[in-house]
Amino acid sequence: MAVIALKCPSIEVAVVDISVSRIAAWNGDQLPIYEPGLDEVVKQCRGNNLFFSTDIEKHVFEADIIFVSVNTPTKTRGLGAGKAADLTYWESAARMIADVSKSNKIVEKSTVPVKTAEAIEKILTHNSRGIKYQILSNPEFLAEGTAIQDLFNPDRVLIGGRETPEGQKAIQALKDVYAQWVPEDRIISTNLWSAELSKLAANAFLAQRISSVNAMSALCEATGADVSQVSHAVGKDTRIGPKFLQASVGFGGSCFQKDILNLVYICECNGLPEVANYWKQVIKINDYQKNRFVNRLVSSMFNTVSGKKIAILGFAFKKDTGDTRETPAIDVCKGLLVHLQPMSPSAVKKVSVVWDAYEATKDAHGICILTEWDEFKTLDYQRIFDNMQKPAFVFDGRNVVNVDKLREIGFIVYSIGKPLDPWLQDMPAVA
Ligand code: UDX
Repeated sequence: MAVIALKCPSIEVAVVDISVSRIAAWNGDQLPIYEPGLDEVVKQCRGNNLFFSTDIEKHVFEADIIFVSVNTPTKTRGLGAGKAADLTYWESAARMIADVSKSNKIVEKSTVPVKTAEAIEKILTHNSRGIKYQILSNPEFLAEGTAIQDLFNPDRVLIGGRETPEGQKAIQALKDVYAQWVPEDRIISTNLWSAELSKLAANAFLAQRISSVNAMSALCEATGADVSQVSHAVGKDTRIGPKFLQASVGFGGSCFQKDILNLVYICECNGLPEVANYWKQVIKINDYQKNRFVNRLVSSMFNTVSGKKIAILGFAFKKDTGDTRETPAIDVCKGLLVHLQPMSPSAVKKVSVVWDAYEATKDAHGICILTEWDEFKTLDYQRIFDNMQKPAFVFDGRNVVNVDKLREIGFIVYSIGKPLDPWLQDMPAVA
């Protein structure tokens, strides 16, 4: 919304939320999320054509186009638990729009699973009192950490709508917004369902690439190949391309797992168990990769982490974001806590958080790198080594360290998908 305000000075953008503290933060000096470049955009537009408010009904009443961006977490109970999206917030947003609207509106929805546009259309038209609504699906493809650049220069903008004259008119209205800065050939329009499914499919394809390279990383370790070399060689094929082939401790973030689970649920509901199982496997490999990392760590350290200090460098699900939702670091840390003997409810008290990598690693037995922050590439590893217990271990879940250099210093190094340290070969990871 901030980027729309920046690129379209003639459009007034009001961002509304029920959370008073959140809106206060958006109106304050310290924005509630960290995203490179966002500060400048918000500060440039705020008060001119970008406003943050808790007066939801007033702004919905006044709006021509409404972007509904409430969250749709995976259901934790009831029908479809663990897979389907929880649409509680969505439904109440739709009912509120129906209650307060007095003029025709275009309602646009961000990422929600296939067929919710239809549900929302039903709620709105059954409560319309003569008002006409058009529902569009305009999923965004921005990634955290690069959101502003992704929005300034998107590969494509996708707008789905009804194939009726009114639907096409609504699509055009939203196209006109994006066309103020996006070349027209990158603005794609489709029917409503194709747009929704494309979002799920794009995220599933991206996650599948990571699971594919991570599956290869296990084979590389077992056979002495180097996954970075394999990725490079594979990615040079222009049909495959070089992006998203970085082996890791696993993918995280608020989208990939949730969207694949949705896809799986939709396949199952449509009687396609083989297709559902195919996509499920992407998540299974991701879980396997996180487990494998923990097992490797524990087995290398004489099969026990009890009484040891492990420094975790990085907790966000990727660099350049403060977001820790579904981060693989959560599962790795939980996995390590399980290995503490005896496992007690007080295990979590054994976790402390510090700002500084040197402080975190002081007197540690091992280091786990779980986010690829640039600063971890240039740390003074000699200084870190000197202050650690020996033997000193580094488990690099993001392939950021220079393995040879660290081995020269004296570390025992495990780096995802790289040929194993002789030490690790003698300590096969337990299944
Ligand atoms: C993703 C999609 O990229 C974006 O298009 C969509 O709109 C939202 O979901 P995001 O979750 O912000 O974006 O981050 P992304 O860069 O896709 O990374 C997701 C996870 O995959 C991270 O944990 C990242 O570390 C991991 N990853 C990514 C890898 O492990 N290897 C790679 O090569 C790329």
